[in-house]
Amino acid sequence: MKLPELKIADFIARIPIIQGGMAVRISTGALAGAVAAAGGIGVIGASGMSFEELANEIRIAREKARGGVIGINIMFAAREFWGIVTTAIKEKIDLVFTGAGFSRDIFKVGQDNNTPIVPIVSSARLAQTATRCGAAAIVVEGKEAGGHLGTDRSIKDILPEVRQATDLPVVAAGGITTGADIVEMLQFGANGVQIATRFVLSEECNAALPFKKRYQEATKDDIVIISSPVGLPGRAIRTAFVDKLLAKKGPKPLGCDFCLKHCSLEYCIVQALIRSQRGDIENGVVFSGENVWKIKDRSIRPAADIIKELVSEVEAILG
Ligand SMILES: Cc1cc2nc3c(=O)[nH]c(=O)nc-3n(C[C@H](O)[C@H](O)[C@H](O)COP(=O)(O)O)c2cc1C
Repeated sequence: MKLPELKIADFIARIPIIQGGMAVRISTGALAGAVAAAGGIGVIGASGMSFEELANEIRIAREKARGGVIGINIMFAAREFWGIVTTAIKEKIDLVFTGAGFSRDIFKVGQDNNTPIVPIVSSARLAQTATRCGAAAIVVEGKEAGGHLGTDRSIKDILPEVRQATDLPVVAAGGITTGADIVEMLQFGANGVQIATRFVLSEECNAALPFKKRYQEATKDDIVIISSPVGLPGRAIRTAFVDKLLAKKGPKPLGCDFCLKHCSLEYCIVQALIRSQRGDIENGVVFSGENVWKIKDRSIRPAADIIKELVSEVEAILG
C-alpha cells in the first residue's frame, strides 16, 4: 500500500508531508524548494523577513521546486503580518500558513486573491471556526511541536477531536520523526503530517552548523519550555541563554523595532532567534520539537533523502 497524496484546494502533493515553516530564516527558499521538488509541500518561515527578502526566497523556492507545492508561514502576532501576506500573494505563493494567533480577516483576503489559507490550530473549537471562515485545510499542532505552542495537550489527544470537527483536510503536527509516527497519525484520521524538527538536519536548512550540531547532540533532558515575549510558551533546546531565561534572568532588549503587535519586552525573541540561526547558539534560542533526540540518523543529509527514508518506513509498515 502506498502513501495517499495530500490535496489542499487545487494543489496536490504526491507525498503527504508538509515541511513546517521555521523562523527566523531556518526554513528559507532552499529547503522549501527541495521539499517541494521531492513531492512534499515546502514552507518558507516568513516571520522576521523583510518583504524584499521574502519575495526573493519565494523566487528561489519556485525555481528549485520543479512544479512542486510551496507555501509561506507567518505568525499572526507579527506586526508586519498583512505586508508579508500581501507580498506572498503578489509573488503567487501557492499556500499561506498562519500560526501564533488567529485572524478571521485573512480568509476573505485569501478568497479574493485565490490563495488558499491554512491556519495552524491546537483545538477542535478553532478548527471549527476556521472551517466556517473558509480555511482550505487545517494544521493541528500538539504540545510536542517546536517553537511557539498553543496547547499543552498531545497531538494524539487533539487530532481525533479535530477530525470530528471538520471535513477539511487535516494535517497533524508535533513530534513526528519516523514513518511509524506518520502511520499512527494517518490511522487517527489525518490526511497528512507537518514535520519541522526532522528537516533542520538537512543540507538545505538555513541554520548555521552549531545550530544543527545542537540538534545532533540534544538529549531528552535538554528539551525545555520557555516563555516567549509573544505571550506564548515555546519549546527549545537548552543553551546558556535559555538557562538564563529559565532562571528569569533574560537580558532586557537594548533596542526595539516593535516587530510584534504585543510584546512583554522580557527579552528580544527575534534577536535571540537570529543569533542562534547565525551560529551563536549560547547567546540564542534554539527552537526544537520535543522528539529531536528520537531521530535515529542525525547526520546532515539532503531533504530529499529524509523524505525518501520516511516514505520507505511508512511503506514497510503499510505493506
Ligand atoms: C526551529 C523551529 C522554528 C519554528 N518556527 C515556526 C514559525 O515561524 N511559525 C510556525 O507557525 N511554526 C514554527 N515552528 C513549528 C513548526 O512549523 C512545526 O509545526 C512543528 O515544529 C512540528 O513539530 P516537529 O518540529 O516536532 O516536527 C517552528 C519549529 C521549529 C523547530
